[in-house]
Amino acid sequence: MDPKKKIIITGGTGYIGSHTSLVLIQAGFDVVIVDDLSNSEASVLDRIAELSKGVKPQFEKIDLSNFEHAYNFLKKHSDACGVINFAAFKAVGESVQRPITYYRNNLCILMNLLECMQEFKMNNFIFSSSATVYGIPNKLPITEEEPTKRPTSPYGNTKKIAEEILEDFTRIQAEFSAISLRYFNPIGAHPSGKLGESPVGIPNNLMPFITQTASGIREELKVFGKDYKTKDGTNIRDYIHVVDLAEAHVLALKRLLNKTAKDNFEIFNIGTGIGYSVLDVITSFERTTKQKLNYSFTYRRQGDVPELFADSTKANQLLNWQAKFNLDDMTSSSWNFQNAKK
Ligand code: NAD
Ligand code: WQD
Repeated sequence: MDPKKKIIITGGTGYIGSHTSLVLIQAGFDVVIVDDLSNSEASVLDRIAELSKGVKPQFEKIDLSNFEHAYNFLKKHSDACGVINFAAFKAVGESVQRPITYYRNNLCILMNLLECMQEFKMNNFIFSSSATVYGIPNKLPITEEEPTKRPTSPYGNTKKIAEEILEDFTRIQAEFSAISLRYFNPIGAHPSGKLGESPVGIPNNLMPFITQTASGIREELKVFGKDYKTKDGTNIRDYIHVVDLAEAHVLALKRLLNKTAKDNFEIFNIGTGIGYSVLDVITSFERTTKQKLNYSFTYRRQGDVPELFADSTKANQLLNWQAKFNLDDMTSSSWNFQNAKK
């Protein structure tokens, strides 16, 4: 790619942002990461450099929920070709306890970015959305046509509101283009074991809970419910490898830059289209890692949707995106990352 295009990655030291920054560098982009390090560490930058022949992304530590800070940052980098916005708080349970913190952080980041981008005539934006906006779906697999519903958590609701803000904003900003990627369940880690998910405190999500249990940090995994109307009684999800997810951002960015989008606000599901149960994930983990996982069943977790998996045909066709990794790749790479941390 010539000349080298500069791209801003908010939340780029985080789990998905770090993998995406790496693949963007590998695709020839000049990556500028902005993160307040509230849920990540600056050492991630060195690991990205190790994996990209020494190319260390530029980095600024900034709280983007602060308008003035966001403004000064974007003014300085207004020559970038776009912004990929990963920065957000994402703990579902915590958002129930601290709704204002979540609404303020996640929505102020978005509104600050959009307002400043408008001022500096920066016109390409990619947003990290979530399958949580579908609530309990009427039909499976879920297409982007499925109506959104109010998510059960304030966190989830920030994603639904964010998409509504983007819809209104793009309606009046004809030259501005946005893509919202609705991630299903991102798990897995970079095959090198150098990048992955490092949740602070007790993990809420299944995969880090499994790896931490197997490595002895947690005593036992509790499987939430065994009486769902699914093949084995446990919840079904569409797990997607984080490296596949990262690639979807590169393709979405290219779509914006090539101006091939049909509409100036597009939404894509990013999942494999395959639903796996909690027991499938455990079985895959035990098989690929040769670890025996200590687990037992407990009550259903409030707010859990029994079954969720994507129809990603739109992303396959319009982004030319395909998931390459399977469940065994996801569980084994997660374990590899957990071990590499020791
Ligand atoms: P993460 O917590 O690892 O990364 C988010 C990053 O944003 C962190 O590095 C954090 O320090 C930073 N951040 C938070 N508030 C900030 C602020 N005010 N200013 C600057 N930086 C700030 O999370 P992730 O799993 O990589 O998720 C990335 C995005 O994808 C988030 O928007 C999340 O909601 C969304 N998402 C995640 C999942 C998932 O399961 N991981 C699923 C669907 C959507
Ligand atoms: C997966 C399955 C649990 C932990 C959440 C957010 C969603 C998105 C992805 C950000 C479920 C079961 C889990 C455990 C278990 N995040 N489970 N024991 O709930 O599908 O989605 O993360 O946008 O918005 O809601 O993911 O990993 O928490 O759960 O049995 O200790 O594992 O019941 O069936 P979830 P998860």
